[in-house]
Order: sequence, then structure tokens, then C-alpha cells
Amino acid sequence: MELNEVIKTRRSIRQYEEGFVVPFEDLKKIIEAGMYAPSAMRRMPWEFLIITDQVLLNEIEKTHNYASFATSAGAMIAVCLDKTKEHAGMGVIDVSLASQNIMLMAHEMGYGTCYCGVYPERHEEFNKILQVPPHIDVIGLISIGKPLETKGCPPRYDENKVHINKW
Ligand SMILES: Cc1cc2nc3c(=O)[nH]c(=O)nc-3n(C[C@H](O)[C@H](O)[C@H](O)COP(=O)(O)O)c2cc1C
Repeated sequence: MELNEVIKTRRSIRQYEEGFVVPFEDLKKIIEAGMYAPSAMRRMPWEFLIITDQVLLNEIEKTHNYASFATSAGAMIAVCLDKTKEHAGMGVIDVSLASQNIMLMAHEMGYGTCYCGVYPERHEEFNKILQVPPHIDVIGLISIGKPLETKGCPPRYDENKVHINKW
């Protein structure tokens, strides 16, 4: 797929083929794409936690109010921030840019993903479930698996949101 097509056909996938295992090598390639994202002062304050344990995925599903598909996806990538490395409070932006690279690469490879945000006030809860060290925050959880749904891609370009020079 051309980049233009990858970008325009990626959709959040919430239905997955149960029991399908995303090969570890593919997960690494997908995470590698995340590591090519830009980051403030090139700090690269991201950390990635691959979750394939069904018990853990089930716990995430039960704790997170909007990730009912975590277990069926078979894998999640927790996108995390190393708070000791971020520049001037820009770490969440860095991790988010890495996250989009991850979702685009996964889509290009034929996988479905859905970004599941973790509200800042709930970081502690997910940090605890995933036993991350104190300097790490779980910013989001990206489900990844073999897609069982296809979604259309209606045009999204909106001229009203584009401003030129001064607003
Ligand atoms: C910060 C953020 C948090 C999100 N959290 C959730 C979530 O908890 N559960 C979910 O099913 N989708 C979540 N999404 C996915 C959005 O619902 C989805 O991207 C949006 O509806 C647009 O659809 P599309 O991704 O198919 O283009 C989240 C997306 C973002 C960017």
C-alpha cells in the first residue's frame, strides 16, 4: 500500500479473530516504526510493553471501560512514557506520535488496531496492573490482532478546519 492509502484506510478495529497470535517478530517490526517518530529534543522518552498474557488482557478489559475487545485481539501494546526523559512536558506528544506510527505500520501489515486512551487520573491503576516502575506512565493501550471487520473510509478533508496565515 502507498502511504496515502495506509493513512486513509486505517480505522479503529474492535472485532478480532479470537485465538490468532500476532508473531512476535511482527510486533517488534511494528514497535520499530514507533521508534522512528519525532520527539522533542530527540529524547525518545517512549517505552513499549507488549501484552499477550490472556489473564492480563482480561484484567485490562475489565478495568478499562472502553476496551471490551482486548482479550479477543490477542495482544496489546502499552505505549508508555519515561517521565525522567521527556522534554518540557512534551512526552505525551512524543508517545502519541509513536503510537500513530505503530497503528499505521500495523495496518500496512494487515493487522487491525484500536487506540485505547488511559485518562491521566487513571494512570496509577494501569501502572499497577502492568507493574511498571514509578518513573513510567502507561499513556495508552493499542489493541492489535487479525481484523474481523472492515470499515469504509469516507472522505474527511474539511476545508473549514484549514486556515491560512493568520486565522
Ligand atoms: C486519545 C484516544 C483515546 C481513545 N480511546 C478509545 C477507547 O478507549 N476505546 C475505543 O474503543 N476507542 C478509542 N479511541 C479510538 C477512537 O474512538 C477512534 O479513533 C475514532 O472514533 C475515529 O475512528 P477511526 O480510528 O476509525 O478513524 C481513542 C482514540 C484516541 C485518539
